[in-house]
Amino acid sequence: MPTNNFYQQDILTADQFTKDDLQHILAVAKKMEKVVNTKGSLDLLKGKLMTALFYEPSSRTFGSFVASMQRLGGGFIPLQGVQYSSVVKGETLADTVRTFSCYTDIVVIRHPDVGSAKIAAEFCDKPVINAGDGVGEHPSQALLDFFTISHHFGSLDGLTITMVGDLLNGRTIHSLSKLLSLHKGMTFNFVSPDILRLPSNLLEKLRERGVKVRELETLDEVLKDTDVLYVTRVQKERFTDLDLYEKLKHHYIITPTLLKPAKKTAIIMHPLPRVGEISMDVDLDKRAVYITEQMRNGMYVRMALLALILLKEV
Ligand code: NCD
Repeated sequence: MPTNNFYQQDILTADQFTKDDLQHILAVAKKMEKVVNTKGSLDLLKGKLMTALFYEPSSRTFGSFVASMQRLGGGFIPLQGVQYSSVVKGETLADTVRTFSCYTDIVVIRHPDVGSAKIAAEFCDKPVINAGDGVGEHPSQALLDFFTISHHFGSLDGLTITMVGDLLNGRTIHSLSKLLSLHKGMTFNFVSPDILRLPSNLLEKLRERGVKVRELETLDEVLKDTDVLYVTRVQKERFTDLDLYEKLKHHYIITPTLLKPAKKTAIIMHPLPRVGEISMDVDLDKRAVYITEQMRNGMYVRMALLALILLKEV
């Protein structure tokens, strides 16, 4: 096994990973998959504790971090729904994370503000994992999405990835496109309404990295060449104008009819939750991996991350 670069490290942004790092995490995630499928759990992290500090709603990210910690034999403090914590008394993020770094070995944080995980990490003397900082990033989701794509296709070379929906506010897209762009041979299609286009600085970064990038408003032209169709929800919570949200929320709806021209070998992904942008009858399509592979991989990847951060050798 390669040296563990993650021991006691924070996971704050997809920018921090090298190609070798990704391969290392993937290898450990594969081991975790085997463990879950054979023994169900192991006691690698016995005696270790995780704080799950969630200032924003979450089902999958929260649930899979908790499941991961428990399958590795560790424990956790669930702080979900911070309306019941001292945060409502006006406690600062700094004080909250400093407190929980005294009780536990790692802090997983989700917060509405961009950069909040970085601030938490500055005050926390235990490793911090960014589980979503507003419209910023969601690196652990990107890792599980990356794992799903690499696992499914074997190699990323020559793949065409089409990301559709709210590219401006969707943090999963921001982190995943950064990870994928480490592999030069990829093509990206970013499909969104004009006002929900990918942030221009991110677009520039991807172009600088030498990947092929196109921005479009419809899927028509690109669906037939797409290997990965990554669908996202329009992020209601980021809109101040709810009428505008209503107008945009179902701008794209993926249906079996729409998918007719798509490749037989393509996969359809979504970080979930979905709120109507993929119709339920697409779930029966073999290409739909959002409630199957992608979901399961979330736990294997998060198990790998927790183990790599908390143990010198895995
Ligand atoms: C995503 C998130 O929170 O950014 N959900 C998740 O973590 N799986 C996507 C979303 O909420 O639309």
